[in-house]
Amino acid sequence: METTYHIPVLFKESLDALIINPSGTYVDLTFGGGGHSRGILKRLNADGRLIAFDKDTDAHANQINDSRFTLIGHNFRYLKQYLKYLNIEKVDGILGDLGISSHQINTDGRGFAHRFDGPLDMRMDPLSPLSASMILDTYSKEALLQVFNEFGEIKNAFKLVSHILPQQNMGKFDTVTSFKNAIETLIPQKDPSKYLSQVFQALRIEVNQEMLDLQTLLEDASDLIKDNGRLVVISYHSLEDRMVKNLLLKGQLKGRVESDVFGRVQLPFKADPHKAIIPSTEEIENNPRSRSAKLRVGVKQAMI
Ligand SMILES: C[S@@+](CC[C@H](N)C(=O)[O-])C[C@H]1O[C@@H](n2cnc3c(N)ncnc32)[C@H](O)[C@@H]1O
Repeated sequence: METTYHIPVLFKESLDALIINPSGTYVDLTFGGGGHSRGILKRLNADGRLIAFDKDTDAHANQINDSRFTLIGHNFRYLKQYLKYLNIEKVDGILGDLGISSHQINTDGRGFAHRFDGPLDMRMDPLSPLSASMILDTYSKEALLQVFNEFGEIKNAFKLVSHILPQQNMGKFDTVTSFKNAIETLIPQKDPSKYLSQVFQALRIEVNQEMLDLQTLLEDASDLIKDNGRLVVISYHSLEDRMVKNLLLKGQLKGRVESDVFGRVQLPFKADPHKAIIPSTEEIENNPRSRSAKLRVGVKQAMI
């Protein structure tokens, strides 16, 4: 494995939570450098099976040569359709390690990092329709405000959008450097990196439709996991974590507890309400990218 591609986060913790049956069928939604996938395969016996997804073609170079393993170069939001195609009714566990890989953020020329120049692209899937520069050039005031408020939690989103709008379609958002120049007066002198990271995160989430992918996946997950099977999700920002937490603790994504006509509440997953697993100080020291990680585990309940 290319170790510089990505160091898997909460490796032992996620595998301990996920693998309950060494002969089982598992899904790694976010293959990346394949660190978690390799760990899963090590814990499975000859009857076990692992299906992995990654929509970024760069990740496909990390393919694992193992007859128990299948890599699907597509969006995990189509998990349900792919399992049907593979004749798999339900799986023993699903792992999602959300967001971006170290390889993606450290690759010059893809536009994910504000410290490199290059096209302001940010597409994980090179065939997806929208790049970050297209968003900046074409979105309305309302749409841009929603992106920066919701996905970047940027305090002066209105100011930022008012700055962007008059500069649309003038080539100002074609590259990382030209975009940074276009918003230069808004970047705080103190800690410019924090502000830019929020702006870039918001654009990345919108370009890759990350919240929609997660929502679709979570809506399907309970039908695809066997009773007592596991849903294990590592998230890196509060929006993702909130969505996962709502599904695990309240049974649906909007956070309201739903009951049937008799007032009975039936939750598809059992989870510890207080417990998100976080990396140890040692892991954070060795891999600072793990700092914001939160792991949540849901145990699929039998539905009556
Ligand atoms: C944090 S990395 C995963 C790292 C991996 N666990 C490892 O051990 O190397 C996330 C990966 O998921 C991929 N990804 C993100 N969203 C996806 C989606 N909706 N469908 C398929 N792949 C996705 C990204 O391209 C990236 O390679």
